[in-house]
Amino acid sequence: MFHQRTFVSVAAGLVLLATVVGTPAQDRRHQPSPANTLVTANPSGWLQTTTPGGSIDTANPFFQSFGPNGRTCDSCHRQAQGWSITPDELRQRFARTNGNDPIFRLVDGAVSPRADVSSLYARRIAYSMLLNRGLIRVGMPMPANAEFRLTRVDDPYGYASASDLSLFRRPLPSTNLIWLTAVMWDGRETVAPFKPPMDAGINHEDIIESLASQARDAILGHEEAAVAPDASVIDRIVDFELHLFTAQLIDQDAGKLNAEDGMGGASILAQQRFWVGINDTLGGDPTGDAFDEKAMRLFDEWNVPGAQFSHDRGERARAAVARGEQLFNTLPIAISGVAGLNDVTGLPVIQGSCSSCHNAPNIGNHSAALPVNIGIADASRRTPDMPLYTLTNNATGRSVQTTDPGLALRTGKWADIGKFKGPILRGLAARAPYFHNGSAATLMDVVDFYDTRFNVHMSGQQKSDLVAFLSAL
Ligand code: HEC
Ligand code: HEC
Repeated sequence: MFHQRTFVSVAAGLVLLATVVGTPAQDRRHQPSPANTLVTANPSGWLQTTTPGGSIDTANPFFQSFGPNGRTCDSCHRQAQGWSITPDELRQRFARTNGNDPIFRLVDGAVSPRADVSSLYARRIAYSMLLNRGLIRVGMPMPANAEFRLTRVDDPYGYASASDLSLFRRPLPSTNLIWLTAVMWDGRETVAPFKPPMDAGINHEDIIESLASQARDAILGHEEAAVAPDASVIDRIVDFELHLFTAQLIDQDAGKLNAEDGMGGASILAQQRFWVGINDTLGGDPTGDAFDEKAMRLFDEWNVPGAQFSHDRGERARAAVARGEQLFNTLPIAISGVAGLNDVTGLPVIQGSCSSCHNAPNIGNHSAALPVNIGIADASRRTPDMPLYTLTNNATGRSVQTTDPGLALRTGKWADIGKFKGPILRGLAARAPYFHNGSAATLMDVVDFYDTRFNVHMSGQQKSDLVAFLSAL
């Protein structure tokens, strides 16, 4: 079964290469040179990462192991998978190593730290969350003095308790970090709220300090190191990751994403203007500028009238990407029931679009930290492989069920249950599945989620246009 999968993805890669090679002469320059290690294949095209030195410095401690379990940052943050990991690649890694690659470790790779990993068969079950969904078990205790208590645990793996809740989460990409406004899904490694600097654009101190803390904790936690390495080592890791920029460069249908005046790819991304609060939806841009819903302007020039009828397949595909971008910016969404947004503004319904929440221009996260609950961890969306927690409010006695309390496990606040940050939306095609718990296997599943959650009633064409756009990011 595993070999077959490997074969299928290799075959897909060859078809892709053949497509790129087989295009007309003037397009042949679009093919990445095999020697260019900064460009990697993925199911919908090619991903590009840029670095100041023009290559990936694999001598950086990012690629070194500091603990006894053999793991490095690269165990869970892989360039070709958009600096995250994918179930496909993990299944290949499992098959190649009989489930012994360092990512397969009890501490947080398994469904429970007490899982049986004594045989190949047992390991396949123990590491099923990695193999099926690319999920790592983040263990966190109930916070002291929380406004709620844990009244019931339904853990299919018989482990989770108030002292160690199992939260199954996707590794966030360790790239494009210069634009983060919160570090980790629940923002717990954000050392201080990032303030908008008025001059340079980005306050490097805040982000460097946060990423240093994050790297130290990753080495002590994921890598199980007994002591943290020297500050100089941490500094080198942070310096390395802060200089990575990643985006899709070539789409198998639309072609080169920075051709024909398109602005895709990592080299253009690296030039992106940004400051904390830029284009703030709620009017908080420190420059005083109003929110512009056209947050994404990468493919404006591909909006050629009549292109959908073109005989050129590439031109039709580029038109779909451009339509998708327009939908992202302007397709009306009646945002309701989103804790962190509707309650904060006092508006039961906010007439917005995708860019209301993904407002950082051409980057797609929220330009100021804004943890919100869009319902990904709701009990109604729980699948049998996920633990379910019942939380009861100390003051009101009300209960809610969730697969992941999110921000509330940090703050202890009832209102923060289920809140997560919106991640950066670049390099998406390389790193399925999506959302903090990997519940959307494909970008179409992401779009379907929004269509249902907010009753948008998108047409099939609108959905596929949105997917074409998201795949090109
Ligand atoms: C065993 C897998 C694993 C290893 C090893 C690992 N990470 Fe991660 N990383 C994750 C997961 C899972 C998350 C998200 C966790 C969360 O938000 O609760 C994450 C999040 C991050 C983030 C946050 C990005 C963002 O958008 O907020 C950064 C940066 C990062 N990791 C860097 C590193 C570095 C540097 C190392 C090595 C020192 C490392 N990671 C090792 C799994 C791993
Ligand atoms: C109300 C705010 C809000 C709106 C509106 C919104 N998003 Fe999101 N988006 C989020 C948050 C928050 C997350 C992370 C949620 C989680 O994982 O729990 C997210 C996650 C995503 C992801 C997954 C990224 C990843 O790395 O896993 C994609 C893709 C995405 N959104 C695209 C869209 C599109 C397309 C639309 C419009 C159809 C949209 N979003 C509308 C807030 C929003």
